[in-house]
Amino acid sequence: MANSEYEYVKSEFEFDSRLPPSNWIVVRIDGCHFHRFSKIHTFEKPNDENALRLMNACATSMLEKFPDIVFAYGVSDEYSFVFREETEFYQRRESKILSLCVSYFTSVYVMKWKDFFPNKELMEPPYFDGRVVCYPNLKTIRDYLAWRQVDCHINNQYNTCFWLLVKSGKTEKEAQQALKGTFSKDKNELLLQQFQINYDDEPAIFRKGSCVYRDKVEIKVKTDCCGNPIKRLRLVIAMANVDIIGSEFWENHQYILREEKCRYEYVKKFDINHRLPPCNWTVVRINACQFERFSLIHSFNKPNDWTSLRLMNASASLMMESFPDILFGYGFGNEYSFLFQEKTELFQRQESLILSSCISRFTSFYMMKWKEFFPDKELVEPPYFEAELLCYPKQKTVCDYLSSRQAECHTNNQYNTCFWMLVNSGKNENEAHEILKGTLSKDKNELLFMQFHLNYNNEPAIFRKGSCIYWQKVEESADVVDREKITRERWDVVVAHVDMEPEFWRMRPCILNRWHLAG
Ligand code: GTP
Ligand code: MG
Repeated sequence: MANSEYEYVKSEFEFDSRLPPSNWIVVRIDGCHFHRFSKIHTFEKPNDENALRLMNACATSMLEKFPDIVFAYGVSDEYSFVFREETEFYQRRESKILSLCVSYFTSVYVMKWKDFFPNKELMEPPYFDGRVVCYPNLKTIRDYLAWRQVDCHINNQYNTCFWLLVKSGKTEKEAQQALKGTFSKDKNELLLQQFQINYDDEPAIFRKGSCVYRDKVEIKVKTDCCGNPIKRLRLVIAMANVDIIGSEFWENHQYILREEKCRYEYVKKFDINHRLPPCNWTVVRINACQFERFSLIHSFNKPNDWTSLRLMNASASLMMESFPDILFGYGFGNEYSFLFQEKTELFQRQESLILSSCISRFTSFYMMKWKEFFPDKELVEPPYFEAELLCYPKQKTVCDYLSSRQAECHTNNQYNTCFWMLVNSGKNENEAHEILKGTLSKDKNELLFMQFHLNYNNEPAIFRKGSCIYWQKVEESADVVDREKITRERWDVVVAHVDMEPEFWRMRPCILNRWHLAG
């Protein structure tokens, strides 16, 4: 059923999150609730050799099944699988790689259980969780493996001491107490003194954990005519309980984590274009940088410079004209928010391209229009803006966002109006701040009225409410051409300084639904 009307739910919403290229991919699997699982199945404490050998057998099966796994390291109920740096296994799709590793491992664990525990019934299904981590270079992947082995050492040394103390008659609490604050060498001493055990003689599988990898071995492939064996180097899956913190193992097995050569085209894979989530309302919010300094240098009026605001609106108006997908703009002070229709395909929804092209165009319009609005003011310094992208899944949320900007406009403007009235009346800036500290909106209105005979609500709406900018149908004329009635529409960009309450949107259904209405 190709391309049904429902197909978009896959093509637009399903993301295949891909792991970054040229990184070693590690999948680390860990037994879920193995504390309980090992109790139920009466595993030996602290280490059950059969349980560990079963884990190793599963890891070996993993390397047999997935050739791109180059190394595995396991301890206790966990196993790490390292995929080669340039693997294209499932195009490096994270959820595929993770899920099938965990699933295959689990499956083999159950299948092989009987081989390692012939006399033990599997009482409950074992299961594992897993995570994927990427390591970008040889040092970090080596350090990762070293970290796991150090962890193995610390846990095993502790557990060895702990269970020997318990078996010798101490309670678990007493054993814990005895080991509190001890260092590695104290624990070795304890083992030697109290139990005549040299820790280094403990089985390596417990002390070092287990490595599974492909080893190069000479194998007799045939005999020559004289009966001499002909040997070839073959890769054979091997298991070893060896040190991987030092460099010896890695020097002898350089091919395991070798850095791969690849053609130059692979660098393209690093170009990860983040895309906006589908069907989301997107806002690009622009904000002038260091505007206080800029307005000082260009001697803008305080607290509001009418011309500066009109220049912002003019630039916003040009934005509406140059990006048809912008449905609405809202600005105050030195910021402007532009709302894109939810299904915009501008730059295939690539975030960085939308953001950068918006900010660059806005800056350009602002510069071009400067002379028109400030014919007597030289631009002393180039203004510059920053922008951010915001995504809202619901229309209601985006309306709430716009209302929150308008609330900010109100709060700022009321404060600034009071502040500059106080300063202009002779107070210094500190005193003005002090007077306004902790005052509520109605206190400020009262202050303006009582001290300056100013009714805040009579202040210009452009200052109090900011500017809403949108397309409006202004004229509909019908001509009759060849007896056919032709309807013409004209849409203009309008700027209004009004409250963006629910009523505002209800009265103007065209603003947010322009694209739906246009069909
Ligand atoms: P989650 O992983 O968070 O689900 O909990 P968990 O119970 O699996 O604990 P965690 O992975 O932190 O630790 C593994 C636990 O498995 C250990 O604490 C032990 O209780 C148990 N375990 C693993 N290997 C052995 C073993 O060889 N013998 C015994 N007796 N227990 C083991
Ligand atoms: Mg676990």
